[in-house]
Amino acid sequence: MNKMKNDLYLRTLRGEKVERTPIWVMRQAGRYLPEYREVRKQAGDFLTLCKTPELACEVTMQPIDRFGLDAAILFSDILTIPDAMGLELVLEEGIGPVFNKPVRSEAQIHKLSVPDAEDDLGYVMDAVRVIRKELDGRVPLIGFTGSPWTLASYMVEGSGSKDFRRIKGLMFESPQAAHTLLQVVTDSVISYLKAQVAAGVQSLMVFDTWGGVLSTADYKVFSLAYMQQIVSALKSDEMTKDIPVVLFTKGGGPWLEMMADTGCDGLGLDWTVDIADAKARVGDRVVLQGNMDPVLMNTGQQQVRDHAMLVLEGYGQHEQSDKGHIFNLGHGIQPFAHPDNMQALVETVQGNSQQFHKQADVTQTND
Ligand code: CP3
Repeated sequence: MNKMKNDLYLRTLRGEKVERTPIWVMRQAGRYLPEYREVRKQAGDFLTLCKTPELACEVTMQPIDRFGLDAAILFSDILTIPDAMGLELVLEEGIGPVFNKPVRSEAQIHKLSVPDAEDDLGYVMDAVRVIRKELDGRVPLIGFTGSPWTLASYMVEGSGSKDFRRIKGLMFESPQAAHTLLQVVTDSVISYLKAQVAAGVQSLMVFDTWGGVLSTADYKVFSLAYMQQIVSALKSDEMTKDIPVVLFTKGGGPWLEMMADTGCDGLGLDWTVDIADAKARVGDRVVLQGNMDPVLMNTGQQQVRDHAMLVLEGYGQHEQSDKGHIFNLGHGIQPFAHPDNMQALVETVQGNSQQFHKQADVTQTND
């Protein structure tokens, strides 16, 4: 395999002018890959896979080896934190993640405490160390967390939800208890992300998968304020201050300015956002990551190539004042995606994005 060092993704996140657009894909290691399904079968279940650093490393590497993506993402899950808080995560086949002991009372909220990242979540840090060693500088490693709001939603609902009846009930009826819950989750997230950086991750992403179900007023108070705490904590710590942080609120298109105000380095965009519009609004302040509709990965290669070009053209030329673009889907790749489409996507972005980086060429020839 190609062992060449590739730090294009990190240079882009630092706002440097680069020669082409980097690409990685949310959920790039997963069930659409036959080699993932094989290792998952060997492991027996998803959590064993997450909790066995050598296997987590193996599946992290699979999409890097197969497609030559520009960044690797730690194989784990956002629900490791509530699991470590004692909620007992299980992944039910065909249902998704479920907690055996969901948070259903204020008394339970007051009993929650911050897990020890190196002890209770030591398997995640072990996986990071094993993966960094295996990557050997080939591409950067992304660490991640769920946002406090998204984690609290799963903790209170006990599983995925369509209407968020329980967490919103708590938020509207007992806002103080909701804030107590969000605060202990936030403190856990901060300690968890710092430990991931200490173990070797080179950038961080916050998945606010469910922020978009809130009103603007509630988003500010119950989701964004806690992501702000996370960004501030990371940016004021010597060890983490230079680690780029990307925030992704699915459905967060209306709130990009407020999200950029947190001082984060990048924003993930879902596919409903017009990337040219996002660039005009916040492109001089943050790197934009996204945002092709993931369902295209279940269609044909021509559709994938055409739509990838539309996203690149949507961002357009990278001018001096633009922070930059990282190609990704607008949400995770689905289990029905065709691996050949991922190949077509990577080829399209890596082979055709140079034309949008003319400024980079100018700087390079002047050197
Ligand atoms: O991106 C990657 O390749 C890294 C690994 C990763 C997983 N989950 C692996 C996984 C990441 C970054 C996540 C994040 C995650 N987990 C999110 C935020 C991102 C998003 O998609 O919005 C959320 C909401 C979760 C919670 C969760 N875990 C869900 C909804 C599911 C899927 C349930 C299902 O059956 O589809 C999981 C399980 C999970 N996490 C799988 C993988 C590969 C599937 C597990 C399997 O059956 O093998």
